[in-house]
Amino acid sequence: MSTPRPEAAELNSHRSASPLHDLAYGHIHASALRAIARHRIADHLAHGPRTAHALAAVTGLDATALHRVLRLLATCGLFVEDADGAFVLTEAGHGLRSDVAGSQLPGILLFTDEMFRRAADGIEGTLRTGEPGFDAAYGMPFFDHLATTPDKSRVFDEAMTALSSGVDEAIADAYAFPESGTVVDIGGGRGGLLRQILATHPGLNGILFDQPRTVADHLLDGHDLAGRWHTQGGDFFTTAPTGGDLYLLKNVLHDWPDDDCLRILTTVRRAMRPATRLLLVDAVLPGDGTPHPAAALDIVMLMTLKGRERTAAEFEDLLARSGFRLRQVLPTGAMSSILEAEAI
Ligand SMILES: C[S@@+](CC[C@H](N)C(=O)[O-])C[C@H]1O[C@@H](n2cnc3c(N)ncnc32)[C@H](O)[C@@H]1O
Repeated sequence: MSTPRPEAAELNSHRSASPLHDLAYGHIHASALRAIARHRIADHLAHGPRTAHALAAVTGLDATALHRVLRLLATCGLFVEDADGAFVLTEAGHGLRSDVAGSQLPGILLFTDEMFRRAADGIEGTLRTGEPGFDAAYGMPFFDHLATTPDKSRVFDEAMTALSSGVDEAIADAYAFPESGTVVDIGGGRGGLLRQILATHPGLNGILFDQPRTVADHLLDGHDLAGRWHTQGGDFFTTAPTGGDLYLLKNVLHDWPDDDCLRILTTVRRAMRPATRLLLVDAVLPGDGTPHPAAALDIVMLMTLKGRERTAAEFEDLLARSGFRLRQVLPTGAMSSILEAEAI
């Protein structure tokens, strides 16, 4: 029997009316969310309502504490508690399940990880220095830390794959890819976007380029793509595959400050033939102060890396300084846009 899914909008009647109160309590909500995600409570609610006692019996947790934490998250629209004290997943709550397409669980486990919490604790210092709180907390840059901690690296790669899977199809559909040729995805992670592009465009071949440990865990196997791709591990500051007809940089430039973006773009430009195209896939901030959801991602970049989200004019400037001409900016329906550039 399927359970009706209450809409989040009808659930917030107990929420504080004060944005200051909500902001001050934000870390409590994030910690409660992480705890519920780690204990896979949403999976246990997948097939219908359960009381905290019933959930505690299958998870070994404390029933009273669990009830109180679920009640808090109900005020955020993830669950509804019915008159019998049973909790029902809302539409948003279903995104916490591990077994649904587009699951947000890997992203939640990454962004509530201590790496991001300690980096966020450093924002006060970042306001003084402009430097990421991450480096101050861990004594090294973010990607260096991932390179030395395989379990964190796995959490990161899984989250990137899951976050990307929600938008890969939109991107593969939003751009008029050529019918034949080779697509090179630089910093392409485990290859989720490349897989989607090759599956949607059977005349294309692909090269997945990323750090060796990341491409080693690629997602390109499957006989529908057999013989149409290969991987290459390397450092995009110094090398990029040659011979491509279309190059991609998705959610890569926002990780880096301008001078590093110029090094990456210049390396990629050197590998490209004139007139070939480069697609940047990143959020594009409005230049006029209009609020944009990527403002939060911009602070993630500020506190963990030295990166930033950018406006179209800022991307155009980086492109012009590294041998490209911006041709067009295409919306995708997701938070990211596609910026199409031509090697000049
Ligand atoms: C934010 S992730 C984006 C991954 C993928 N394009 C996506 O959208 O899901 C940035 C990627 O850059 C890769 N990366 C970081 N430093 C790199 C380097 N020096 N050379 C090559 N890849 C690098 C990381 O391994 C990671 O896969």
